[in-house]
Amino acid sequence: MADDNVLTAPLFVGLDAESSHALIASMKVIDVGRGDVLFHEGEPGDRLYLVRDGKIKLGRRSNDGRENLLAVLGPGEMFGELSLFDPGPRTATATVVADAVVLELGHSDLIRWLGEHPGVAEHLLQALAQRLRRTNEALADLVFSDVPGRVAKALLDLSTRFGQEVEDGIRVAHDLTQEELAQLVGASRETVNKALADFAARGWVRREGRAVVLLDVDRLERRAR
Ligand code: CMP
Repeated sequence: MADDNVLTAPLFVGLDAESSHALIASMKVIDVGRGDVLFHEGEPGDRLYLVRDGKIKLGRRSNDGRENLLAVLGPGEMFGELSLFDPGPRTATATVVADAVVLELGHSDLIRWLGEHPGVAEHLLQALAQRLRRTNEALADLVFSDVPGRVAKALLDLSTRFGQEVEDGIRVAHDLTQEELAQLVGASRETVNKALADFAARGWVRREGRAVVLLDVDRLERRAR
């Protein structure tokens, strides 16, 4: 059952069950807890990771110590592949947000695997292209959208990964602190907090510690545009 979480990853799309399970069996399973760092920005990288359970944040730090989150990844998602396809230092720091199980695959093993299963490369390219699309959109939002619009978008994006239907909406247990949510949106904690309080006052969301219940997805989608 646990393996089912990773079978949706681009590495396995189009593969038969036997090949997929053979690849999974060759990967190292690592249990990590909140706050653990899998690797730091700037380090050389020689392996990629698949999230089986839990949440991983990818962040960058500016020279003056401020942090920005590029993404929060969940089950079935992959990271650490950039330093394989474009050999060089890690482009971000990978930190555990919620206790996680990740599978590790050495770059050399991946290269061998791609040689044996060339069709998989197409799916990896697709995943990279989707990431570029998303990054372009985030960049445009930073320039063109206001903070509440970006908060609405971040909540909707997190809901596609971590949302669970509940009686009155979609519960998104993002496990992020207010600071981390602000780093994801690219704004100050105060401004993000104000936007969330405003959404709550309008009845669009309900805040529950490190989770948010989306009560009115339509209104949030309109605000995110
Ligand atoms: P790598 O550079 O090896 O290590 C950091 C990883 O973060 C990188 O590979 C990608 O897997 C991931 N990453 C970098 N930039 C983004 C982004 N904009 N969106 C999602 N993931 C990213």
